[in-house]
This record gives sequence, structure tokens and C-alpha cells, in this order.
Amino acid sequence: MSDLDTLEGDLLRQVSETSDEASLDAVRVAALGKKGSVSELLKTLGAMTPEARKERGPLINGLRDRVQGAIGTRREALAEAALTARLSAERIDVTLPVRDAPEARGRIHPISQVLDEITAIFADMGFAVAEGPDIETDDYNFTALNFPPGHPAREMHDTFFLAPDRNGQRKVLRTHTSPVQIRTMRSQEPPIRVICPGRTYRHDSDQTHTPMFHQVEGLVIDKAANIANLKWVLEEFCRTFFEVDAVKMRFRPSFFPFTEPSAEVDIQCSRKGGEIRFGEGTDWLEILGCGMVHPNVLRNCGLDPDSVQGFAFGMGIDRIAMLKYGMPDLRPFFEADVRWLEHYGFRPLDIPSLVAGLTA
Ligand code: PHE
Repeated sequence: MSDLDTLEGDLLRQVSETSDEASLDAVRVAALGKKGSVSELLKTLGAMTPEARKERGPLINGLRDRVQGAIGTRREALAEAALTARLSAERIDVTLPVRDAPEARGRIHPISQVLDEITAIFADMGFAVAEGPDIETDDYNFTALNFPPGHPAREMHDTFFLAPDRNGQRKVLRTHTSPVQIRTMRSQEPPIRVICPGRTYRHDSDQTHTPMFHQVEGLVIDKAANIANLKWVLEEFCRTFFEVDAVKMRFRPSFFPFTEPSAEVDIQCSRKGGEIRFGEGTDWLEILGCGMVHPNVLRNCGLDPDSVQGFAFGMGIDRIAMLKYGMPDLRPFFEADVRWLEHYGFRPLDIPSLVAGLTA
């Protein structure tokens, strides 16, 4: 056997014995690298006579080509083996249960859900959303709403007062969303059609009252808005909100300083088996206060009661949320208990709309 055959046999065996890309590369460098055994042989060609080169040249080049080819083939085989090993080591068990993504696991608080439902319903009737601050002046919360100073209705509200400021004025945590009526009428020209949802505060706490709660106010002012319009808006709202074909409503005369006439509205329900259902039964449940905006309130906002008029209503969001979703106690609404929220909360991507369904 010639020296070239021996070298080739050696190199090919080394190539076939490699077990990974690193050892294969070591063989390649030892043979074909700058100082590799095959490279050294190639260098000898330069010093040969043309005849000798003609004979040895093809032999050495052939050796180089075959070694190179063997290395390439081995490299592919090793890469394929490595991939196969990785695929079987990193196998995924597709039969495992799927864990919900964070955006599917989070929950929307019932208050936020109900607020979105209310906004969707009134937006469909052409109402915009107006807002005001939680901390109000006595003027916005009472005086401009036609509560005379010292009037007993102020006491009815169990108001939280802030410490007096430099001028001896005491701000209040708003006891209702009605001050937003004043803010809206003082900043916008009629026709006005707004709802004003927000937080409200009264010194009260039991199963159905918390010191902080939520109301939504409605206000419509134009040339002719009347009680018939008010009744239609409220009926339409209740029917859509409680997702029933019809609700019977009862308007009872009542008193609010800022509306005249004023009414409290009950809706018909059944209380069979302790469960409240709407659209059936012979019981009544109070859900809101309303009335025609008092001329004094219009005047307090710079409007002329002889040329514009309108109606307002206000209801407790927490209360109608409890009614709609059968929650017996209001206090857990504000306790931030994740287990409660998981039970009563709503899926974040189910956004209420009249087209897709309020609570699809
Ligand atoms: N602000 C009243 C309350 O909190 C509700 C109401 C609003 C009544 C608008 C009439 C008109 O009880």
C-alpha cells in the first residue's frame, strides 16, 4: 500500500469515528487545515519536477477531495442525528391541559361591567358621558341644586365634610352625581343629553350600603324634553339592561330639591324563593329617582326656564348590579377578594354592546 493510501485509510476511519461536530472539526483541521497532513502533502508539489507533479498531483488532489467529501457527508449525518436527539428530548405533551393566558384569566369587576353596559345603552340613545370631581364645593353639591342653606335635605345625605379651608369653606365628598348636572349646564349649551357615572359618598354602612358607592345621573335639556320622554328613556333602559322583553314601572311622587315634579321609580319583580326576577311577579322594587329639572336649577346655571326645560334621573349602579347579577351583599364589591372576583367577575374581552349582546 502506498503512503497516500495509508493516510487516506487513516483519515477516513478517523472521520467515521467522530461522534460530534467538534471532534469532526478537529479531524478536518488536522488533515486540511494550514498545517494539516494533506495540506503539507499539497505543498510538496511545488518542489517536484513537472513529470513527478503530473503523477503525484492527481493522487494528492484526489485524496484531498475524498477526505473533504467524507467530512461533508459526516457533518450532515451528525447534524441530522443531533436534531433527532433534540426533537425526542424536547418533546411536548400535546395532551396536557391548556393553561389560560393572563388576559383570559383576569376578570372585570362587576361595577366596571355594569358601567360599560349602562354606557352602551345610553350611547345608543344618543347620550354622551360627562364627569366631575369626587371632591365638590357645597355650591355644586347642594346650593346650585336648590338646596337652601340649612335645608333638612342636606342632612338626609349623611355628608362627609372636609376640614375647612382658609376661607372657612368646607368642601364635601359629593353625596350624589347631581353636581355634574350643574357642571354640564354651566359649560355646555342646550341641547344637552348626558349621563354622568361616578363615585359618590355617604356616611352609611350595612349589607346594601357602603360609604363609597356609584351612581349614574342622566340629564336632558332642550326646548321640549318632557315627562313622557323621561318615562320612555327609563323604560327603554330597564328593558335593555335587565334583558327582558318588558318591564312594568311605577312612578311614585317624591321630593328632590332640584326636580319638580319629582318621582321615585319602582320596577315590577317577583321575589319567589328569595330570588328577584324582573318582568314578572307582583312585587315592586325601587331603583331610581327622577323628575323635571327645577326652574331654580336652570336659573342657577344661567339658563332661562321659559325657553328651555328638561329632565334628570339618578340611580345606584351598585344596586342595579346586585339586582341583575344576583349578588346578595354589597360589601364584597370593595374588599378586593380575588376569589369573589373570579366568581362574579366578567371576561375582559366580552365587551358589552347592544349589537353583540350586553352579557354575551
Ligand atoms: N341625586 C338623587 C339621589 O342621590 C337622585 C336624583 C337624580 C333624583 C336626578 C332626581 C334627579 O338620591
